[in-house]
Amino acid sequence: MKYQARTKALVSMVSAAIILACSANAFAAASADAAIALARKNSCFKCHSVKEKKTKQGPSWPKIAEKYRGKADAEQLMMTHLSSGKIVKFVDGVEVCHRIIKTSNEGEVDNLFKWILSLQPEA
Ligand code: HEC
Repeated sequence: MKYQARTKALVSMVSAAIILACSANAFAAASADAAIALARKNSCFKCHSVKEKKTKQGPSWPKIAEKYRGKADAEQLMMTHLSSGKIVKFVDGVEVCHRIIKTSNEGEVDNLFKWILSLQPEA
């Protein structure tokens, strides 16, 4: 009995370690699915697009990625932008407060920013 309980504890520790290792890996390269899911939940696509679209009020995300490319503090700047609700200008000149991202999971936000920064404009 005692032996079984110990084995069980060991098994659950090992599987916890595996789960931890896997989630760390998942954030090494941005997961597009998770990023898109978070962006959908936050209605980011109301104003932003992954491909160039003239109908959106905000710049496309590849364009934003271009602007940030090579900047070491890109993610920091994005975090400030997405948490401060600063005033932004629509394509048509109307000014609004930018949406503040809602999630309780920092890793999720980090993944979204990494994914946005990885987007390439169309040739
Ligand atoms: C109501 C429309 C609207 C929504 C919704 C919106 N944005 Fe924006 N966003 C804008 C506009 C307009 C700009 C351009 C800001 C500027 O250049 O002044 C912008 C700029 C940005 C930038 C670039 C900031 C910079 O420093 O250039 C990022 C990153 C961004 N948005 C991410 C997001 C994310 C992530 C979401 C979802 C949580 C989101 N946006 C939702 C309109 C929107």
